[in-house]
Amino acid sequence: MIKKLGVLTGGGDAPGLNGVIRAVVKTALHNYNLEVVGFQDGFYGLVKNNYQVLTIDKVSGILHKGGTILGTNNRDNPFHFPVMENGKKIYRDLSAEALKNIERLGIDVLVVIGGDGSLSIANDFSKKGLKVIGVPKTIDNDLDATDVTFGFDTAVTTATEALDKLHTTAESHHRIMILEVMGRYGGWIALYSGIAGGADVILIPEIPYDLKKVKQKIEERKAQGKLFSIIVVAEGAKPIGGQMTVAKTIQGSSDPIRLGGVGQLVAEQLTQLTGLEARVTVLGHLQRGGSPTAYDRILSTRFGVKAVEQAVEGPWGTMVALHGQEIVCVQLAQAVQHLKKVDPQGELIKAARATGICFG
Ligand code: F6P
Repeated sequence: MIKKLGVLTGGGDAPGLNGVIRAVVKTALHNYNLEVVGFQDGFYGLVKNNYQVLTIDKVSGILHKGGTILGTNNRDNPFHFPVMENGKKIYRDLSAEALKNIERLGIDVLVVIGGDGSLSIANDFSKKGLKVIGVPKTIDNDLDATDVTFGFDTAVTTATEALDKLHTTAESHHRIMILEVMGRYGGWIALYSGIAGGADVILIPEIPYDLKKVKQKIEERKAQGKLFSIIVVAEGAKPIGGQMTVAKTIQGSSDPIRLGGVGQLVAEQLTQLTGLEARVTVLGHLQRGGSPTAYDRILSTRFGVKAVEQAVEGPWGTMVALHGQEIVCVQLAQAVQHLKKVDPQGELIKAARATGICFG
């Protein structure tokens, strides 16, 4: 019989994490009489045995708050954990320590709220016999096994608001305004916010760009008397035959590549091509911060409730997911197999093209 749950939030934060934690604790305590223990700072807390007992008081008043009351990090993988030995940083497999902590605390099932990196680690623990339930989170919306991840809607809303603001200043100065948004190897945030924010050009990793086509679009607009243009660039966008722009690499992270900088490159090249002034705004971590939208509060709550039901009833080694209108469960192993990408021939791209948006 299941008596105690562990829960942790891993990877980059996303608005809605607190909604899941709150729903897990409320469902577990009220409906199943379980205890819940929350590990601090993702898998780091699991290895170091840093935890807190989660009571109703601890999760009260957190639904509307961004971030995570448990803390998170996108570096410390227990299977490849950084330790200092003889003044040197090396990496060791400390998964056995983590499992011992789970056993000592009497935790029956671990709920891991994370993106593909954290859920892959959860899957590795599942292979070692731990009962695990995954909850998909990421602003990037790049997890294939769920229609949507929570955090995405808030990020898109933030990016759309930024585009609305850029529009007025672009129009006043007759400039090209470029907004670089996050999303890693997927163009979801760029595509959704670009459509919602009335962008003229959207550049995404799934459709490598040719800036001559962007120049043509800007000139067509000029001919119609529109002296400004709004361009949304996904951080993973790349030219035809070219590479993504890497900002830095983070040692020890399950995905060490950090993208960034393509907006500036596009600005410089477009100014050369068109002679027009271009300005770049990099929206960065604003997309991860702040209060979750109503949609993300509801989705995260539904995921948290289902995660507890699944933790009690099994099967474990699964992840909760949204399929259509339903919250379902899928195999964790299948969920982390590949990333969800924008379909260049899909309906969304067709709709965007039909309304005149150029993809370079
Ligand atoms: O996966 C979420 C995300 O915000 C990506 O969109 C972005 O590329 C990355 O994380 C940034 O990571 P960090 O917080 O390490 O800068």
